[in-house]
Amino acid sequence: MCGIVAYLGDKEAQPLLISGLRLLEYRGYDSSGIAILGPQNNLKIVKRKGKIRDLEKYIGDRHFPGHLGISHTRWATHGVPSDINSHPHTDQSGKLALVHNGVIENYATLKERLTKQGHKFKSQTDTEVLAHWIGHIYEQTDPNDPDRLEKAIKKALIEVTGTFGLAVIHADHPNCLIGARRGSPLILGISEEGHFLASDVPAIAAHVQKVVYLNDDDIVRIQDHQFHISSLTRGESKFEISQVEITDAEASKGNFPHYMLKEIFEQPQAIMNAFRGRLHHEAATPKLGGLNLTPQEMRSVRRILFLACGSARHAAMVGESLLETIAHIPAEVDFSSEFRYRNTPLDENTLCFVISQSGETIDSLNAMREAQRKGFRVLGICNRVGSTIARESNGGVYMHSGPEMAVAATKSFTAQVMITLLLAIIFGRMRHISATQGQEMLEAIEKVPQQIAKILEKSEEIKDIAKRYLKSKSMLFLGRQALYPVALEGALKMKEITYIPCEGLPCAELKHGFIALVDKKTPSIILAPTDSLYEKNISSIQEIKARQGPVIAITTEGNKSIRSLVDDVITIPQAPEYITPMLAVVPLQLFAYHTAILTNCDPDKPRNLAKSVTVE
Ligand code: M6R
Repeated sequence: MCGIVAYLGDKEAQPLLISGLRLLEYRGYDSSGIAILGPQNNLKIVKRKGKIRDLEKYIGDRHFPGHLGISHTRWATHGVPSDINSHPHTDQSGKLALVHNGVIENYATLKERLTKQGHKFKSQTDTEVLAHWIGHIYEQTDPNDPDRLEKAIKKALIEVTGTFGLAVIHADHPNCLIGARRGSPLILGISEEGHFLASDVPAIAAHVQKVVYLNDDDIVRIQDHQFHISSLTRGESKFEISQVEITDAEASKGNFPHYMLKEIFEQPQAIMNAFRGRLHHEAATPKLGGLNLTPQEMRSVRRILFLACGSARHAAMVGESLLETIAHIPAEVDFSSEFRYRNTPLDENTLCFVISQSGETIDSLNAMREAQRKGFRVLGICNRVGSTIARESNGGVYMHSGPEMAVAATKSFTAQVMITLLLAIIFGRMRHISATQGQEMLEAIEKVPQQIAKILEKSEEIKDIAKRYLKSKSMLFLGRQALYPVALEGALKMKEITYIPCEGLPCAELKHGFIALVDKKTPSIILAPTDSLYEKNISSIQEIKARQGPVIAITTEGNKSIRSLVDDVITIPQAPEYITPMLAVVPLQLFAYHTAILTNCDPDKPRNLAKSVTVE
């Protein structure tokens, strides 16, 4: 939800800001802009509705000299995407410029106060109000105080409610860049040639070796090749300097036309990263060091609660099924956003997990804080190292998938499922699973990368199938048990990148309403591996075919009999039922990707969406 890049240093700011924005575009792409402080302390602001390439086109050959600048790519909250509503925004004097990620909840009250004092606003945004508000406080501070700008920002933010990650510059402070955060991520990048502020590491990974993940309520002042971090509320702030672990190649598309396709094809490696070094063959169990739980504490767990949103919630639902069938521990999944406000009664032996690729999803972060406030231990399953959830959780497991840049989650989903499987086996081995069974499971896990690689070879075949369904009015995705959340995930992938209305449902639910949708233009994609419920799935297929609905079946290699019943078949390798969800989702990802390409939709930047949802 909005991306920020800011720079102060020895280099020219403009190219650094633009290249950083390109790498943050997954956070929002309805408009963008830059502000650079020029050699005569003149503030040059250029902003444009549309994607970064529209801004670049508008800038053309123009070069705006300057070593201090801020920039922003927007996902609109207040005010439609337009040139005027794009960031940076300025204050009443026009000397202060600001970029912001988050929502200023009391902007209406502040705006009213400022309007009464003669402030005039150009946009409909909460951010412009924030810029005016800070500028207004600045005017009231001592002009001779060298820390005037930082002090004004601190004072102004005390009266602000809501969330912000922001970067501020001022024409009267040509050697000063200030950032602050509450609820929205902000990272300080450190290099000998200058300092950066950014919403996410990939934007600056090519230029810095070290970063500081700022904490909520931190304010950072960058000046004279140095930085100073303090707290908006408490005086000094504790921070850690971390090494950048992302490489340039990881954050780029490489030879792939889209991030989504690259990330789908990275799954064999991502899955391997999720279990590598974690399979303890001698003890016939996985080992996850970061759980911070003693064996006694693990034994006393009676219930598991997963909190997550979107695809991560679908992965959690697979985890629920795995925990129950493998470890016999009751598990449940809640929408993070619902949990936070529902006041769910929880058994005291409940262990909570928050699953979040970005580790910054505000609904999941707030759900975690609510569970922690109630005294529960919450563990994080995150991909992004140093993210807020990873830092504030009471322990957890990193996914190690590498950066996921496409809005549509793919490799993070399979890695999350893998981690829930590792958990299920750990808990199972502490209860009733024998060493022999445990060992078999570890061996099955080690085969998954190879099995996924085999499915990826079918990409062209899946593209040909996709060609036959481009005119679909809607699509149904069906699965049972642990494959029901995979069906949900398949439906989400398809609808978010192709805008074709899709439903995901348990097969048997068809009869309870959804079957009314079945017709010649509504294909059903059914997950029907040759497992214990295969015959039940065949009945569902018959019901659809009896109503002239086209059927695409995802089934197990070697299953020839299904071909005469359905219109198209995609096979996946034979595997135990606890492995199948990680395999069955891959054809669905490819099916959605190819459908998007064939219908001229941009799979990396679907309309109205952003990768990391940092507003409620
Ligand atoms: O970063 P998170 O895993 O917390 O994100 C949660 C959802 O916003 C995310 O999974 C979303 O549903 C996917 N991008 C959809 O493909």
